Amino acid sequence: MNDMIRIDDLVFKYTRDDTGEEVNAIKGVSFAIEKGSFTAIIGRNGSGKSTLAKNINALLLPTSGFVYVNGYNTSIQENLWDVRQSAAMVFQNPDNQIVSSIVEDDVAFGPENLGVESAEIRRRVDESLKAVNMYHNRKKAPHMLSGGQKQRIAIAGAIAMKPDCIVFDEPTAMLDPKGRSEVMAIINSLNEEGITVILITHFMEEAAEADRVIIMDDGVVRLDGTPEEVFSHADELREMNLDIPMPVELARRLRARGIDIPADIINIEEMVEYLCQYR
Ligand SMILES: Nc1ncnc2c1ncn2[C@@H]1O[C@H](COP(=O)(O)OP(=O)(O)O)[C@@H](O)[C@H]1O
Ligand SMILES: [Mg+2]
Repeated sequence: MNDMIRIDDLVFKYTRDDTGEEVNAIKGVSFAIEKGSFTAIIGRNGSGKSTLAKNINALLLPTSGFVYVNGYNTSIQENLWDVRQSAAMVFQNPDNQIVSSIVEDDVAFGPENLGVESAEIRRRVDESLKAVNMYHNRKKAPHMLSGGQKQRIAIAGAIAMKPDCIVFDEPTAMLDPKGRSEVMAIINSLNEEGITVILITHFMEEAAEADRVIIMDDGVVRLDGTPEEVFSHADELREMNLDIPMPVELARRLRARGIDIPADIINIEEMVEYLCQYR
């Protein structure tokens, strides 16, 4: 079976604590995510992205429908550890994810909870900190680090659990451009090493780096395809108040002036390379 994740007609409703009112956050979503792939999920605020992510990690369980992670049905209680072991999650705010006062203890927290034996934990902590280029900071207090560095610690914590898949929920939203590009470089290299990546983001340039883009809108999937396909739906994206990646918009305007830019050019490097042939 080549599906890392399979979602079958997922419906998720919250019940509001204060009013008891039901909020229909996911209204029937089905898709599968192939092992080893890199999928970006975008959509405006409130479209259900975080709710979907938490259903993949069994932090929330379907109101109806099914979520399978590595073949494990998340609704079956006995599968909880296998689900969490298979799919780790990294959230937006690094401060809410850091639990220890020393970096290396924080990274050890996940594998400790999985019951991994101590020599193996040591190995995993060192390896994970090296993977995010934070090994030299292993004895530091997380609160002394920058937002980008803290997010890299949170990612190391996820890697240390040796998951097959990592779901990132807007991991760069609170970071400066430098922190953002460092985190994106790590996400790309994890995917190159075979980890299935699901990246929720509101940065279109980040989504353009994925193999596949899924657009959520009001609890349903609105568009799903390669970045080239999805970003060619400029009118629909605008209607959802979503940006179009700068190179895609530039290509559209150049085409309107008779310069024939190929449809598969969606990132800046490719655009520069193509335009330089015109000299
Ligand atoms: N704990 C909650 N209780 C009630 N409603 C919630 C809760 N969390 C999210 N919602 C609602 O569910 C919908 C989807 O939210 P969310 O998944 O956070 O969207 P996104 O991550 O795309 O911004 C929104 O209408 C939001 O207000
Ligand atoms: Mg969210």
